[in-house]
Amino acid sequence: MRLDKMIGNSGLDSRKNIKRNAKKGAIIVNGEVVKDTSIDVDPDVDEVYYMGVPVDYFENIYLMMNKPKGVLSATVDRDETVVDLLDDFYRNLDIGIAGRLDKDTRGLLILSTDGKFIHKVTSPNSKIFKTYEVATRDKIDPSLVEVFAEGVYIKEDDYTARPAELEIIDDKKALVKVSEGKFHLVKRLFSNNDNEVVELKRVAIGDLALDVHLAEGEYRELSEEELGLFDL
Ligand code: URA
Repeated sequence: MRLDKMIGNSGLDSRKNIKRNAKKGAIIVNGEVVKDTSIDVDPDVDEVYYMGVPVDYFENIYLMMNKPKGVLSATVDRDETVVDLLDDFYRNLDIGIAGRLDKDTRGLLILSTDGKFIHKVTSPNSKIFKTYEVATRDKIDPSLVEVFAEGVYIKEDDYTARPAELEIIDDKKALVKVSEGKFHLVKRLFSNNDNEVVELKRVAIGDLALDVHLAEGEYRELSEEELGLFDL
């Protein structure tokens, strides 16, 4: 693994700072100063120190967050992002988002340093269903259950969505399950059927449900059991 990845993953500093400090002699590998952070190291064998601190390599991080409204699902932006909600330790990791939510959507977001995992969760090929609680402007027509199951034609994209499951809870509330991550998909399923989503919250990704004890803006690491739900 690259030296900068090993140190970056440990949460000690950002990649940019690591590179800059390396030039000043801040990294010692097996007793020697190393200025080139692109070299390969073996975390199980090589002894690495950064700014005098031993670097403890750890495995990937997997977080579940209850995303609040008004925060962007992005890692860097001028506006507040979900990564800004993390504490310093996690913020310094090279973290990605497994399936973004719109700024005005709340609920379950997974953040991870594991690129392969993110790909698996977000790839339409893995057919992992995402479940959303939806509140609508108008009464939900029961005929939409069939329409969603057949695949809604999204006219702005000239695209037929994959079959989605619609479970009507009451007049203006429903659960919707979709297996693809197209932009504004759930909103478009309704707007292409003369209705409008007014509140949207993701409550599950595959079999992983949003922890009801997490307040909006809070997050925690996934347990081994929860990670196992993704059959990695
Ligand atoms: N569908 C949407 O329309 N918005 C989201 O944030 C997620 C799914």
